[in-house]
Amino acid sequence: MKFTAALVSAALATLAAAQTSTTNNTQVGIEAIEAHFSQSGIVPSLLTTFDPLALMSVTFDGVGEISPGQSLTQTQVAPTPGIAITPANSTVQLSGNFTLVMADAGPVGTDESAGQTRHWLVNSVTVANGTDPLNVSTSSGVAITKYAGPAPAQGSGAHRYVILLFAQPESFTPPSNLSTAGVPVSVFNLNDYVQSTGLGAIVAGTYMTVEEGTASFTPSSTAPVVTSTLPVPKTSGTSSATSGAASPSGSSSGQSSGAGLNTAPLASMLLAGAFALGLVFF
Ligand SMILES: *[C@@H]1O[C@H](CO)[C@@H](O)[C@H](O)[C@H]1NC(C)=O
Ligand SMILES: *[C@@H]1O[C@H](CO)[C@@H](O)[C@H](O)[C@H]1NC(C)=O
Ligand SMILES: *[C@@H]1O[C@H](CO)[C@@H](O)[C@H](O)[C@H]1NC(C)=O
Ligand SMILES: *[C@@H]1O[C@H](CO)[C@@H](O)[C@H](O)[C@H]1NC(C)=O
Ligand SMILES: *[C@@H]1O[C@H](CO)[C@@H](O)[C@H](O)[C@H]1NC(C)=O
Ligand SMILES: *[C@@H]1O[C@H](CO)[C@@H](O)[C@H](O)[C@H]1NC(C)=O
Repeated sequence: MKFTAALVSAALATLAAAQTSTTNNTQVGIEAIEAHFSQSGIVPSLLTTFDPLALMSVTFDGVGEISPGQSLTQTQVAPTPGIAITPANSTVQLSGNFTLVMADAGPVGTDESAGQTRHWLVNSVTVANGTDPLNVSTSSGVAITKYAGPAPAQGSGAHRYVILLFAQPESFTPPSNLSTAGVPVSVFNLNDYVQSTGLGAIVAGTYMTVEEGTASFTPSSTAPVVTSTLPVPKTSGTSSATSGAASPSGSSSGQSSGAGLNTAPLASMLLAGAFALGLVFF
């Protein structure tokens, strides 16, 4: 377990170090979106935790598949995107119904207790069987609020539009004012909605940012997800993964940090970890 985690961390660090922006390795992709949600403050300000079971892909006509937190224009995000997911593994349950939501979490630093503008809410969507990645079929669901492209106010900063797919158990009960199709865009409280309706776990999610004009305030800073923000492999883990590749002093204690390692052996250990995972990142 720890061994695998160290390998994933090593692979992530290697990918980031190589400035590789995309990978089709699902598990690494899930770790990356988790890092992005923390880095952008979505966790913990909007979601207390984010531990998705699948990787979400969001595709806009004319843009293609977006990357986590990608900055896009109102025009680019005007059409309804295609949503697809790739489960982390075969144990992830994909039958039954799901609820798809897009909520405006505002700029970094927003007090989420005031609620979020609901830009998209579709109940009873299903996950297609047979596409790769698996298409999320919104046409089969109940479009409580049809997709409404982001339109943040001028100067209000870079808003984070969070797209989430929740498991929707049979016991799901919508509130009376969000139970039929065609409710216009309005403010709701995402967490209250999830709690009161009995929605299940977050299956997958991602976000994008849209900004109009120049912020009339100094937004809270948020660094992009770079090497230094991704998990760094523990000396003990990488040593055991590549016995003989390097023997930094004190590695047996498991306490020494990676800082004491020479760059070259560390890089080769990271590569070994990545290859052990079967990643293709060139
Ligand atoms: C994902 O990686 C596999 C090899 O590991 C490759 O065959 C496939 O084409 C890749 N898919 C995409 C979409 O890059
Ligand atoms: C499958 O993936 C989920 C989500 O990442 C994880 O919680 C679970 O432990 C995995 N199961 C197996 C058998 O790998
Ligand atoms: C899956 O979604 C993509 C992108 O939205 C779309 O082009 C494709 O036709 C869909 N495939 C099926 C089988 O619905
Ligand atoms: C997908 O379809 C195949 C063939 O109809 C079926 O055997 C399989 O159980 C389905 N998988 C899911 C996850 O529904
Ligand atoms: C899925 O949603 C449809 C439409 O609301 C409903 O008829 C069906 O019972 C739901 N299925 C499950 C398993 O909840
Ligand atoms: C729905 O009703 C709740 C109170 O039950 C209220 O807080 C919420 O603002 C209403 N939502 C909409 C979209 O009207």
